[in-house]
Amino acid sequence: MQALTTTRTGSGLQIRIDGPDWWRGAIGYEVYVRSFADTNGDGIGDLPGITGKLAYLADLGVDVVWITPFFRSPGFDHGYDVSDYCDVDPKHGTLADWDALAAEAHRLGLRLFVDIVPNHSSSHHAWFKAAVADPTGPYRDYYLWRDPAPDGGPPNNWVSHFGGPAWTLDPGGSGQYYCHLFLPEQPDLNWANPAVMEEFARILRFWAGRGADGFRIDVAHGLCKDPSFADNPQLRPVTPGMHPMDVFASFDHVHDLHRHDTAVLFRQWRDAVHDHGSVLLGEMDTRNVERFAEFVADDTALHAGFVLQLGLGPWRPAHIVDTILEYQEKANGGCAWEVSNHDQARAVSRFGGGDVGLGRTLAVSTLMAALDGMFFLYEGEELGLPDATLVGHVEDPMSARNGEGLWTRDVARGPMPWTTGPLNGFSQAATAWIDTAPLPPDLTVEHQQADPTSTWHRYHALSMLRRTYPELWQAPFELLHHTDTALVIRRGSLLVVGNLGPDAMQTPELAGATLLFQSRDQAFSDGEAPLVAGESTVVVRAGG
Ligand code: GLC
Ligand code: CA
Repeated sequence: MQALTTTRTGSGLQIRIDGPDWWRGAIGYEVYVRSFADTNGDGIGDLPGITGKLAYLADLGVDVVWITPFFRSPGFDHGYDVSDYCDVDPKHGTLADWDALAAEAHRLGLRLFVDIVPNHSSSHHAWFKAAVADPTGPYRDYYLWRDPAPDGGPPNNWVSHFGGPAWTLDPGGSGQYYCHLFLPEQPDLNWANPAVMEEFARILRFWAGRGADGFRIDVAHGLCKDPSFADNPQLRPVTPGMHPMDVFASFDHVHDLHRHDTAVLFRQWRDAVHDHGSVLLGEMDTRNVERFAEFVADDTALHAGFVLQLGLGPWRPAHIVDTILEYQEKANGGCAWEVSNHDQARAVSRFGGGDVGLGRTLAVSTLMAALDGMFFLYEGEELGLPDATLVGHVEDPMSARNGEGLWTRDVARGPMPWTTGPLNGFSQAATAWIDTAPLPPDLTVEHQQADPTSTWHRYHALSMLRRTYPELWQAPFELLHHTDTALVIRRGSLLVVGNLGPDAMQTPELAGATLLFQSRDQAFSDGEAPLVAGESTVVVRAGG
């Protein structure tokens, strides 16, 4: 069991969970560095901007701040193409800025996750330059090179997430192709080469030694490739004009993703950070829960992985209930739950928009707060932000390279609305790096913190609930009953009722209970009143 230390901060309880298992009940918050806060007026978010807002995050009740990549990068994929893993990109600050950020975070009782990008480097990384310059040198084998197919084309049918084949001809003229599951500027590293693990062990220790408490591991599920480089089975035809993400999903990625040997590799990651006690959290787009469980097996692989399924697609209550039950039961407690991140449309918009979308998002978030593992908010989620309205040209390389008009990740990447001032207080610049319509006053931090009925206060109350009642994630998870779209869960003295379906539901278990939290303010009376649709409630059981 964890030791809980309680202190008071500006607007609530700050409880720090100590011991090696501290992450299990933690509430995480994703900062998309470009769009959080800009301090030097260049329109791009930076590390000092984050430092200045850490007290805000502590007040919200966050334990862990995951910061998206801020390393040196030419920026082809906005930081997910790293040219030096052990330095800060000048557009986001300096190593001294990182040190100041880490010191302030730890003073406030917050922990920091650095976003490591190990599936690929930038094509501007010294390793790749050396690999191209000298095909017989030691760096060649840091990447995945293959001879062309007999017709001179790419070696197999693998496709890039961002459109086109996953193979590009060696710019050095060797005649070979190199593999890239993302942009050609993001060559995939060869994790079958132990030297790559050694490099990353050094990188992990560098950041752990400088104050990182853990790591979010980008594309963790993709590190190992099948050494046979066989074609992936095709599930459905690919038609002209298809979105690159749909093209990608038209193949069964048995040979390029989700490989069992990745779980074996994670043991080496675990060993690499053992002395620092760092927590390893994988981005795991692995829809197969058994494989997911292997990737987060106790003590031998990663600590946890993101369950990305709730962050994808439109409102599908039955899918949400299924996913929660399946992963809660089978994933070794190693889940990090989320409904929004920087790669998908925001939950409020996906779940129906407006008040409906917000109510549904809150209902799901309340359920997530009552599950094992971590749960993460994405910047602005605490304000109930919908997708941004894009004004200028597209920035997201995935869409920019495949023609305007395609769905773009830019909708989730607008500047954080702090105030009602110019650029919503994000920056002193005339324009931000991304051009989005200003947001109305009631969506700003300034307004919402001042209004006790705001969405911000609802999320704040939810995070306080998870802190003050650790039973919510520690007590045995007992499913009392469920339907396709509703759940009644007992956790120690608490009951959690989530009704995501369209029909009101009688819940006799609520009789005599004491209300602790509701995702919406609906009439509550000890169980006679049915819960309305799209609502989650947490109560202390009668006599509990
Ligand atoms: C992950 C990141 C995404 C990035 C991709 C390539 O999915 O979340 O933003 O484009 O990896 O690194
Ligand atoms: Ca800046």
